[in-house]
Amino acid sequence: MVHLSRRYTFAASHRLYADELPHEENEAIFGKCANPNGHGHNYGLTVIVRGPVDPETGFVMPLGELDDAVRRNVLDLYDHRYLNLDVEDYVHLVPTGENMARMIWERLSGPLAGRIERVILDETRNNHFEYPHVTGANP
Ligand code: NI
Repeated sequence: MVHLSRRYTFAASHRLYADELPHEENEAIFGKCANPNGHGHNYGLTVIVRGPVDPETGFVMPLGELDDAVRRNVLDLYDHRYLNLDVEDYVHLVPTGENMARMIWERLSGPLAGRIERVILDETRNNHFEYPHVTGANP
């Protein structure tokens, strides 16, 4: 088995705000991330797949096939969007890095079934979110 990891980027905006909590509590929890009109990030997304090396091609999977799956299921929907309003994943879910890593993994778990190992979302230079959390887990 070999791991293949490939990194993608997208830009998106979000607002960290839980509609079911009072405004004061949102400000206490999320601070300036709760500002009404949102703010943006240049996200990095590393997708890690695993598998045996195909003896003919020498690949775990063709990069084009991985790129298509990530583009169609994540990038086309997330890139240059306001996540809270434009992406159905976050209609009832705060688009934190934690939730985004999980939703992205769920979006890829069907198209990359049996291959996807985990995703790592880079929100800033200092914030990175991995899902699932156990290296090598097969959730
Ligand atoms: Ni943010």
